[in-house]
Amino acid sequence: MQKLEEGVIVKFKENGKAGKAPSSTPCKRCKRPAEPKLVPIIGWKEQEYCRECLNIVLAEKEKEAQKRIKEEKISRLIKESGIRGIMYNMTFGSFEPRYRGVAYSTAKKYAEDFGIGTKHGLMFYGHAGSGKTHLAVAIIKQIIEEKQIRVKFVRIVDLLLEIRKTFDENESWKAENESDLLRKYALVPLLILDDIGSEKTTDWVRQVLYQIIDERWIEQRPIIVTSNLTLDELEARLGERIASRIAGMTQLIEMRSNDYRIKINPKI
Ligand SMILES: Nc1ncnc2c1ncn2[C@@H]1O[C@H](COP(=O)(O)OP(=O)(O)O)[C@@H](O)[C@H]1O
Ligand SMILES: [Mg+2]
Ligand SMILES: [Zn+2]
Repeated sequence: MQKLEEGVIVKFKENGKAGKAPSSTPCKRCKRPAEPKLVPIIGWKEQEYCRECLNIVLAEKEKEAQKRIKEEKISRLIKESGIRGIMYNMTFGSFEPRYRGVAYSTAKKYAEDFGIGTKHGLMFYGHAGSGKTHLAVAIIKQIIEEKQIRVKFVRIVDLLLEIRKTFDENESWKAENESDLLRKYALVPLLILDDIGSEKTTDWVRQVLYQIIDERWIEQRPIIVTSNLTLDELEARLGERIASRIAGMTQLIEMRSNDYRIKINPKI
């Protein structure tokens, strides 16, 4: 509104009266006459826009402001999600059409249907380089962009490093850090646990992973898990408690394509 007032000519009142209305000026948008407006105390003000155009211009400005707010929210959510580096390129659009099979369509449908009430998750498993992380990232990017829902992506190795930092010298939990960590990973509406089962596991690793997964299970919050291991292999590595929780919380999706990385760069 203020912007529209810039540059308008103020006709001062004469002897406490508004004086004679100046003639209309052409509307900046439609060129039809824009009637001057009588403003208390100030007097007559010429108008940049006719009444109809003023409403349209204000509505456009409001729409632009909303769009900016939405874009800012999206970039903040992306930044806070844990997506970084090469992951910015992992979208449904950049997933090669000839590999778009059941895994791709299930992932895409999951992203489209996802809402705050979604309870079930997904588990992508299969060879390294088969596109598991790519699809998981594509899902969360789409959810952020289309629905502005908060999501968190974490590689299990990074999660464990973070957990390790919260241990004191005696390798016992610091209660406040434990609850911080749990809160961070248990409360987010969607959590991606990337590359589970690749880490060196100890009892405390299993304990913390179980706590996070179990907390999400209790609250009915979904997880998306990626792993090079099958559920049986995961059970052998992480124990029955974790594997059965994951099995109960996710739809299993096997990734069958061969190592995509070898195809894009045979020298690696
Ligand atoms: N079908 C695909 N189309 C395009 N890029 C792909 C595809 N599958 C994998 N990639 C790319 O290959 C690399 C390895 O894939 P990634 O998803 O990290 O494999 P995984 O997590 O299964 O080990 C990534 O850069 C990813 O973007
Ligand atoms: Mg991966
Ligand atoms: Zn007009």
